[in-house]
Amino acid sequence: MSSLRLGILASGRGSNLQALLDASAKRWISSRVAVVVSDVPEAKALDRARAVKVPAEGIAPSAAVRGPERRRLHERQMLKVLHHFEIDLVVLAGYMRILGPDLIRAYPQRIVNVHPALLPSFPGLNAQRQALEWGARVAGATTHFVDEQVDHGPVILQGAVPARRDDTEDSLSARILEVEHQLLPRTVNLIEEGRVRVEGRRVHIDPGPSWKTRLPVLPDVLYGDGY
Ligand code: GRF
Repeated sequence: MSSLRLGILASGRGSNLQALLDASAKRWISSRVAVVVSDVPEAKALDRARAVKVPAEGIAPSAAVRGPERRRLHERQMLKVLHHFEIDLVVLAGYMRILGPDLIRAYPQRIVNVHPALLPSFPGLNAQRQALEWGARVAGATTHFVDEQVDHGPVILQGAVPARRDDTEDSLSARILEVEHQLLPRTVNLIEEGRVRVEGRRVHIDPGPSWKTRLPVLPDVLYGDGY
């Protein structure tokens, strides 16, 4: 088991970041959040980090530069911070921008994302609303490695929840979010334990102790293999 230095990218509320901070404080994971970077300088995620004395930096894309150069410049600034803090694993925890090749190539198979749907269904924005509008009966959350397409890289963990007839976007999002808060720390845990291997599109998880037997499980959630 190794303790990884986590670099978190977050754009908003930061509840997934909080799940990682809590898991680290409770020693459910041995990795530590070493820095939080947000493209939104006033994001609540940054306050959550500062509240527990974790370095937090707001780096907004420059308003003076346009087009693809803007993202390149922005990512260069973020990379500088990630390198400075000697980050081993980058975690996208509600990071609402598409990553460009510079950042992705700097951390090959070392960037994970959490998405509020059962990928490959409903990639992109408003996944929970997409699921409801489609009439899906089952929804869920996915963690995956990040590649150069949106919400596309190899799946690590999934958890499924019912999508109910009377669900609103908010009620379904809340049900999914609880699962996100479990899957994301567990994903870090599996990676720090060296149990995750990527084989093409597929992720192989070496057998070992399950979190289902150690930590509370939620009713009506189907935890996919690896949890
Ligand atoms: C989560 O649902 C995440 O999957 C999605 O955006 C939301 C972020 O929530 N990408 P939070 O900022 O972690 O609370």
